[in-house]
Amino acid sequence: MFYFGADYYPEQWPEARWTEDGRLMAEAGFNIVRLAEFAWATMEPEAGRFDFAWLDRAIALLAERGMKVMLGTPTASPPPWLMAGRPELFRVRHDGERVTFGNRREYCPNHPDYHAATRRIVAAMAARYADHPAVIAWQIDNEFGDRCYCPTCIAAFQAWLRQRYDSLDALNHAWGTIFWSHTYSDWDQIPAPAATGGSPNPGLALDYARFMSNSYVAYQRLQLEILHARCPRQPVTHNLMGFNYDQINYFDLVRELDLVSLNYYPRNQWDLSTVVDPAHSALALDTMRGLKRQNFWVTEQQAGQGGWEMLSAAPRPGELRLWAYQSIAHGADAVIFFRWRTARAGTEQYWFGLLDHDARPSRRYAEAKRMGAEIAALGATIAGSSAQPSVALMLSYDSRFAFQIQPHHPQFSYTGHFQELYRAFHRRNLATDVVAPAADLTSYRIVVAPALHVVTPAIAENLVRFVAAGGVLILTQRAGVKDETNLVTDRRPPGLLAELCGVEVEECDALPAEVSNTVEFIAPELAGTPDAEVGVLYEVLHPTTAAVAATYRRDYYAGRPAVTINRYGEGHAIYVGALGRGDLYGPLVEWAVRLTGLPRPPVAAAGVEIVERRQGARRLIFVLNHTEQAQSVGLPGRFTDLLTGAAIAGEAITLAPREVAVLVESAPQA
Ligand code: GLA
Ligand code: ZN
Repeated sequence: MFYFGADYYPEQWPEARWTEDGRLMAEAGFNIVRLAEFAWATMEPEAGRFDFAWLDRAIALLAERGMKVMLGTPTASPPPWLMAGRPELFRVRHDGERVTFGNRREYCPNHPDYHAATRRIVAAMAARYADHPAVIAWQIDNEFGDRCYCPTCIAAFQAWLRQRYDSLDALNHAWGTIFWSHTYSDWDQIPAPAATGGSPNPGLALDYARFMSNSYVAYQRLQLEILHARCPRQPVTHNLMGFNYDQINYFDLVRELDLVSLNYYPRNQWDLSTVVDPAHSALALDTMRGLKRQNFWVTEQQAGQGGWEMLSAAPRPGELRLWAYQSIAHGADAVIFFRWRTARAGTEQYWFGLLDHDARPSRRYAEAKRMGAEIAALGATIAGSSAQPSVALMLSYDSRFAFQIQPHHPQFSYTGHFQELYRAFHRRNLATDVVAPAADLTSYRIVVAPALHVVTPAIAENLVRFVAAGGVLILTQRAGVKDETNLVTDRRPPGLLAELCGVEVEECDALPAEVSNTVEFIAPELAGTPDAEVGVLYEVLHPTTAAVAATYRRDYYAGRPAVTINRYGEGHAIYVGALGRGDLYGPLVEWAVRLTGLPRPPVAAAGVEIVERRQGARRLIFVLNHTEQAQSVGLPGRFTDLLTGAAIAGEAITLAPREVAVLVESAPQA
């Protein structure tokens, strides 16, 4: 089943309007509506007194028109009766200031009283809707995030550390608290790494980041246990924020969930560019699919202009549909627009829905409706298909957190670097999964681990196994520098990966952004490749068993290796010590593909994605023209265009600006 619909807030509108909303939704081909995730005050107007009658009526009205419902638990936005006069329930920010009432997501995730209030509302909702035939899924809270530094959290952190380290001796040793006389003699001396504490011990800071991430995992679990116990037939999800959000380890967060979902806003209020970078959104989508290595839902897709205090660029005609197909191409099994109608009140007055404030169907509604008709015809064909990538990018939250603590350089960002490596694959239409360091890598031929800073023996073994068995691994600068407790290893980097890469890092130079260097590709396999510009961080490499693939052109390390390749077992480990600015990664990706013998997918103009979903042996190809020009794409094979019904046998197809083709491969001729 493919789900298509909108996020709807009936409690924000007169009930007399609901029927017309339901009619328009049904007419647009919606089969799902998400409800209730900000309706705590309406469902529980005072502690322990519940009113679900309005929600029953809203669900019934939608169900009568053939729609199913996904319910959100409302805990992201607590009502004043719960919070007023209770400062200890509010989060303390990194700067030491306590948040006050007036926004949302203001609660401390570790406070027992907030937990108690959470249990009460979630249990009441679960009891009411577990057996409702129209309620088919749950969403817990909304976009978990933000670290808390309050006394409750600090006490919980100390208890968590006790569990983790057992003894203070072990903790002091693990963090190296001997430095600056930070040796703790009692658990309750251990602080949170708040801004008021200056530059904290890296071991303490990394553990705090992990602890806060786990706090949300635990807070989610508290809700999940109630829902799983009471509503076993309804899958439970949480709506995540894509690749860029970096405060929670999403692999941990989704582990116990039945389903991953994404809030997908390719064009938001802080970005006024008129052309959306498809590689940026594609990474968000591939990350979501990689988290559980299964398809996901889009619980919120941008439905209009974004805007709280500021307005964003309006989605161009065709973009809502294009983005919806892009997420489907990358593995979405549901697309739900945020939101149905633009709010007249509140912070999000200018965050536009499919309907405007006046409730008149806009051009955006018309676009969704067009797509609704297409989905009605396509849904069954798409269902059950998924991507089958041969490439994985390894996302290490430990490394990501470690770089938050010690960014190394104002121009270096783990997130940005990861995005650049992803882009090199995306541009070649090479499908990628985003996987955890401990993931089973056996189904991949190429693994890229960008800036894998924190390396444990288990991670090193995972990579060694992968390469020994014939895989091609690409590692980049600052790999293997840290151990699990954020101590620097006592070996030359890349530490536990040095033998695998056949290389040692002698020095890591860090230079101002205005300076750059150039690397020359000297490996015979890369002959003729133009020089690539590099900058910011420059590792000087000393190969032990590796061959030199590229060298620096300038500075005191001119002529010294910047990129190496090592044969290990049946595979290869490529180590990239320089940080790409120009096209450093493209040639390396091409090389990795040649080394594995992987087939090369067809490639069209920049901004045109060609993405595949498979259903057994049957291939579905999505061609997405993100550009403002018509584009021609040639695809080998015979296909039927599921949107137009046209048969394609070898000839190029032409896509209008922001147009999409969904092709199904014809059965091979006998
Ligand atoms: C997020 C939230 C929504 C809404 C939108 C628009 O993704 O999940 O509730 O706030 O952003 O701001
Ligand atoms: Zn707290």
